[in-house]
Amino acid sequence: MIRKPAAKSTATRASCSDRHRLYQYAVQDVESEIDFVEQTWAELRHRPAVFLREDFCGTAQTACEWVGRSVDHRAVGVDSDPSVLDWGRVHNLSILTADQRIRTELLNMDVLQAHPGQADIILAMNFSYYLFLHRDDLRAYFRNALLGLVSDGILFLDAYGGYEAPMVLTEPRECQDDNGNDFTYVWDQASFNPIDSCMHCHIHFEFPDNSRMEKAFSYYWRLWTLPEIREILIEVGFSQVDIYWEGTDEAKNEGNGIYTPSDSGDADPGWVCYIVAQV
Ligand SMILES: C[S@@+](CC[C@H](N)C(=O)[O-])C[C@H]1O[C@@H](n2cnc3c(N)ncnc32)[C@H](O)[C@@H]1O
Repeated sequence: MIRKPAAKSTATRASCSDRHRLYQYAVQDVESEIDFVEQTWAELRHRPAVFLREDFCGTAQTACEWVGRSVDHRAVGVDSDPSVLDWGRVHNLSILTADQRIRTELLNMDVLQAHPGQADIILAMNFSYYLFLHRDDLRAYFRNALLGLVSDGILFLDAYGGYEAPMVLTEPRECQDDNGNDFTYVWDQASFNPIDSCMHCHIHFEFPDNSRMEKAFSYYWRLWTLPEIREILIEVGFSQVDIYWEGTDEAKNEGNGIYTPSDSGDADPGWVCYIVAQV
């Protein structure tokens, strides 16, 4: 019998890869994020935090990290996209223990409408609140967060900026998944309008087989400044708002991953900081 040659596979790394999995590898560092949250909470409060709400939770990886750290911890994740929550249920909640899963709830809601009980901590990470383009909407979100916190609760945000932040540019970064497969994360600042400070940004993924996942994620958001964010947080009633700025590793001339409360920062091309808003 003559054997037919095997059909040549047309599958590429891009076509076989899962965009949410790649995002988790390339963008998220939930261990460091929760380390910062726990350490800062311990410095500011003399009781353990129990209930954490993760706004804009996406795949809820951070909520899962929280419930995994203590049998007392519980978490609620809020996201308006049911498909990303489903992905989180299948891939992140499924690897929790049964007890951890019972302590983790996912809500498919707009963060402006969500009232899932009063949390010790609310997180809004990876600049998701930049999706509010107008001051009134950002104020409404911060007000809802304040109402969603206990009387000594804390809202943790991150923010980014620097003189390259409003530029049109692409920034590739080499990454690797848990199986040692290389890929490139490409952050694409596709447009910036100085009149309203709004910009189109995309995330693409590229692979060593020259395939590319184009616009795996796209955002249209406003590049808010730290003084604007701080002023609005104070306006809605947070009593204290601190900027935690990253220290410098002098030998390497780069960030050292240690964030401390600061009143002034360097005029870097790109920076990321935490904002800690206390009720
Ligand atoms: C930039 S991703 C952030 C994902 C994750 N929190 C992280 O740290 O990487 C933004 C997420 O916010 C969700 N989102 C956007 N607007 C929202 C809203 N008004 N209410 C709830 N979720 C929203 C999107 O569905 C998306 O999953």
